[in-house]
Amino acid sequence: MKVTLEGKKKHFRTVSFEPESNRLILIDQRLLPHTFSLLETTDYRQSALAIQNMTTRGAGAIGATAAYGLAQGCRAFSSKSLTRFATHVQKVFQTLASARPTAVDPFNAMAQVLNAMEPGGTVAEKQELALRAAIQFAEEDVAHCRAIGKWGAELIEEGMTILTHCNAGWLAFVDIGSATAPLYEAQAQGKPFHVLCDETRPRSQGAILTAWELAQQGVPHHIIPDNAAGHYMQRGKIQMVITGADRVLARTGAAANKIGTFTKAVLAKYHRIPFYIAIPLSTIDWETADGFDIPIEERSEEEVLCAWGRPVNDETEKSGGDEKPVQVRVANPSSRALNPGFDVTPAELITGFITPVGILKPDELRSKLGKGAS
Ligand code: MRU
Repeated sequence: MKVTLEGKKKHFRTVSFEPESNRLILIDQRLLPHTFSLLETTDYRQSALAIQNMTTRGAGAIGATAAYGLAQGCRAFSSKSLTRFATHVQKVFQTLASARPTAVDPFNAMAQVLNAMEPGGTVAEKQELALRAAIQFAEEDVAHCRAIGKWGAELIEEGMTILTHCNAGWLAFVDIGSATAPLYEAQAQGKPFHVLCDETRPRSQGAILTAWELAQQGVPHHIIPDNAAGHYMQRGKIQMVITGADRVLARTGAAANKIGTFTKAVLAKYHRIPFYIAIPLSTIDWETADGFDIPIEERSEEEVLCAWGRPVNDETEKSGGDEKPVQVRVANPSSRALNPGFDVTPAELITGFITPVGILKPDELRSKLGKGAS
C-alpha cells in the first residue's frame, strides 16, 4: 500500500526480500505511527528476533518473515555437505518457530518452504528452491488478501459503520491486509462507510497501526476505547464487525485472534450484528481439534502496567515528533498484571469467514477448502 512521506506517495510492502544481499527488509512497526522506518536483517537469528520483538507482527507478515528467514538461513550455509545442511536447516527452523507461538502462518509458511526443498539434490539446489518457495508464499499472501477484498466488499453497504479489532491490515500481511481488504475495495468502488477501530490495549495496535493505515488510505474512521463497542452496538451505531485471525481451526471453525475478539463476538451475537473473520488460507490449522489446544502467548506484564507514546509538548511538535516513544508507568506500582495475547472465539459466534475463495460458514471450511487448497 502507499505511504505518504514528505508529501509524496510511495508503495511499500510490509515484508520484502533482497536475494542479492540475502537481506530481509521490514517496516519497523514499533516506531509507528510517529516514525516510518525500515529495518534490515542480514541473518536468520535477527529475522527471528524481529518477529519476537514485534518489529514485524500480524499473522501474514510473520508468516512471510519466517518463510524468508528460513530461506535466508539456508542460503547462508556455505558447505556442500547435505547432512550438515539438514542439521543447519533444523536449527534455523527451530529458531524461527520459537519466536511467537499463536499464529499458525509461520508454521504453514515454513512447511511450504521445507516441502519445496525436498526434491533438491544438492545444497545449492535446495537453497534456490527455498528462496523460490519463500517468494511464492509472499506473493500468495498478497493474492489472497486481494481476493478477500473482492469477496468482502460485497458485504459492505453504503453508509455502514464497521468495527474492527487490533490490526489485520496491510501491516499484518505482506500487503493489502485481510480485515481491511474489503474496506479498501469498497473505498475503490466509491461506497461511503465509516470504520471504528478498537484501541486494542495493551499494545494498542488498533489505535496505533490500523488508524495510521486507514489515515494513509483516506478511510474515514474513529478510534474507540476497547470497552465502548457494546455501547455503540446497543445504540445501533455498528452494522458489522470484521476482524482477522491468527489461527482458524478447520475442524471446528474456532478462531484465535487478538485478546478481546471473543468479547466483541459475544456482544455482536447479543445485538444480532454480523461478525466476520477475514483470513488467507495460510491462517488455517488443519490438525488441531480443540480451541483450548491453541497455544496462547503470554506476554510481559509491562505492556499492561505501562503505556508508550510520544510526549505532547512544543519541543516534540518542533522536532516533527521523530524521536523514540517514551514509556510511562500507568498502573499502581506494587500491582502485578496478567497479559494473554490472544483469545479463542467459538464457531457459533462467527457469521462467516471471508476467504480468498469466497465467504464460508465455519462448518464449510473443511468441506469447501480441503487440506492444502490454495
Ligand atoms: O500480536 P499481534 O499484533 O501480532 O497480533 C496479531 C493481530 O494483529 C491480530 O490478532 C490480527 O487480527 C490477526 S493478524 C492478521
